[in-house]
Amino acid sequence: MSGRIAVLASGIGSNAEALADACEDGLINGSLCVVASNRPGAPVLARAAARGLPTLALDHRAYPDRAAFDTALNEALLPFEPDLIVLAGFMRILTPTFITPWRGRLVNIHPSLLPLYPGLDTHARALAAGDREAGATVHFVIEALDAGPAILQARVPIRAGDDPGTLAARVQREEHRIYPLAVQACLSGRVRLAGDRAELDETVLPASGAEEAALAR
Ligand code: GAR
Repeated sequence: MSGRIAVLASGIGSNAEALADACEDGLINGSLCVVASNRPGAPVLARAAARGLPTLALDHRAYPDRAAFDTALNEALLPFEPDLIVLAGFMRILTPTFITPWRGRLVNIHPSLLPLYPGLDTHARALAAGDREAGATVHFVIEALDAGPAILQARVPIRAGDDPGTLAARVQREEHRIYPLAVQACLSGRVRLAGDRAELDETVLPASGAEEAALAR
């Protein structure tokens, strides 16, 4: 069965684009049923519209608090009947009002090797710490920020002379590769959230997520 994917994004939308490409190429057995943003002017919305995808803009500044925004977001997404909600550079903290009903069907990509560097400025922090590698993590979203169990990680080397921009670009190339793999594994039911742990084929995954080769099978 073909899966319905709702993408939530706040910015440029290169990951949304990679997911749309993966659907068109058959790497994901599904389609983007909506691309939604909390920023009405976000480039991701124009990029999605240019591809003929349904879009939804819900300006978080119009709501008195996070819970009110989260309730409105949930209600706006329901008519699109998503099987999976995919955060792709969605820079708005979600509360349990949104997370709890979508638990197990809500994933995020974070630009670090979680549990390292939750939150913002991940690349600058990795460089300041003198790390030799960086990366990205696809994980289930649970109520604690950037703390949900990992599904898949990609690692990249940190090179002499890197700045946050060069490192971000290297990490993003990997994001565009691993996010479709992880999304397809969720849609197919091979990867699931069981309690607070991620499972692949009913086996609990380690903290670093699945081996990429196991997901690509
Ligand atoms: C991505 O690199 C993603 O990992 C990051 O935002 C970028 C969005 O790029 N997400 C976070 O920082 C979430 N905390 P994009 O708009 O080009 O997909």
